[in-house]
Amino acid sequence: MNPTNDTFIRAELISFARDPGDGDKPEPGSLEHYGDGLLWLKGQHIHAIGHFAELSPSLPKGADVLDYRDKLIMPGFIDTHVHYVQLDIMASYGRQLLDWLNDYTFPEECRFADHAHAETLSNAFLDEMLRAGTTTAQVFGSSHPGAMDAFFNACQKRHLRMLAGKVLMDRNAPDALLDGATGIADSERLIEDWHGNGRLGYSLTPRFAPTSTKKQMDAAGALLRNDPTLWLQTHLAENSGELDWVADLFPGSRDYLAVYEEAGLVGPRSTFAHGIHLDNGMRKRLADRGANIAFCPSSNLFLGSGLFDREAAKQTGMAFTFASDIGAGTDLSGFGTLKAAYQVGQLNGQPLTAWQGFYGLTMGNAKALSLDSHIGQLAPSLEADFVVIDPQATSLLARRINRCATLGERLFALMMLADDRAIYETWSGGQCQHRRDTV
Ligand code: GUN
Ligand code: ZN
Repeated sequence: MNPTNDTFIRAELISFARDPGDGDKPEPGSLEHYGDGLLWLKGQHIHAIGHFAELSPSLPKGADVLDYRDKLIMPGFIDTHVHYVQLDIMASYGRQLLDWLNDYTFPEECRFADHAHAETLSNAFLDEMLRAGTTTAQVFGSSHPGAMDAFFNACQKRHLRMLAGKVLMDRNAPDALLDGATGIADSERLIEDWHGNGRLGYSLTPRFAPTSTKKQMDAAGALLRNDPTLWLQTHLAENSGELDWVADLFPGSRDYLAVYEEAGLVGPRSTFAHGIHLDNGMRKRLADRGANIAFCPSSNLFLGSGLFDREAAKQTGMAFTFASDIGAGTDLSGFGTLKAAYQVGQLNGQPLTAWQGFYGLTMGNAKALSLDSHIGQLAPSLEADFVVIDPQATSLLARRINRCATLGERLFALMMLADDRAIYETWSGGQCQHRRDTV
């Protein structure tokens, strides 16, 4: 035990202060890298970070330093779009979005009327997130308010910074999932109880335009206008069948995005999952409002939804983030999401550098969610949420890493080959919340 109760960790440290750009090397000032670094924690926050040789003379006498010199520490991974209630239907065979929703997703979400089930799944989901190195996520629940109480409670017990919300859906789904007149009142009650409660935030969650009436979306928009500290999450332009359906349901709106604009749902704290089938006009409208698209590559490959166009996003100034979209996504791991993003990029002629990938998974996602004053970097005064990565976790990874000459090569090998076995520990709020079993 340290005399001051501070925590000191000696390890290789990697963090991004800002976007590293698209080049083979990160732009000057964007990457902070300490080959032999010291991370100094005070309570739930980072107190100092630097070269071990420079910081160690200021350590208190008798300080007990965790020696992780064979490990690499990065800020905790952030997942901007994931459904906790879909953990148990990951990898349900075949077909595209609308069939998948009807055949697997809606029946599964009906189970969350049972509070005990919601508690079990909340804990199972958080165990898996932490095993994957993810410390923050923006999470869809089911339409049952009790399933959100279960989830927020489970997050609070583990000191996690999380955004989540109860799904709003009042049409075009099984009756057991429709929230009719109570959906908005239930959301208001959840906001009252959980938004800004410790490290938790509320994200209003209309599922997508086909399952909410205009009246329900307008009411969600009114809540957002009344409290600009709320977040909003929904789905947009994922699949061509979905586009046709929206055009039929909203003949008066000029396009899919306009449906959300007209309800007042598009703002700087809004995340729209997918955004595959957009034109540049829609991308610019999203950029003007400061909203972000959650790019969910493993989900887009699994459901055959299409290839997200990162270059068009950049050219139009539209922010995008990286996300798993479990249960349509096939990988909870941030490494897995980046690997799929690289593969989508290859099919699009838009390869992804490891700098862009790991910046996105940490600081980029934090910034897009307006959480960068709390998390996303290893920097003094930020919250101590980080992952301890073991680059030698498997014999294959060790062989490959040992052949790498540069940091860029090592990060790229991790992005393509690593999985949860490479997450040695996951820390949140200054406490170790997950330690890997012995490999
Ligand atoms: N669109 C509406 N609901 C969903 C969902 O649960 N998953 C995905 N991938 N797309 C959706
Ligand atoms: Zn989704």
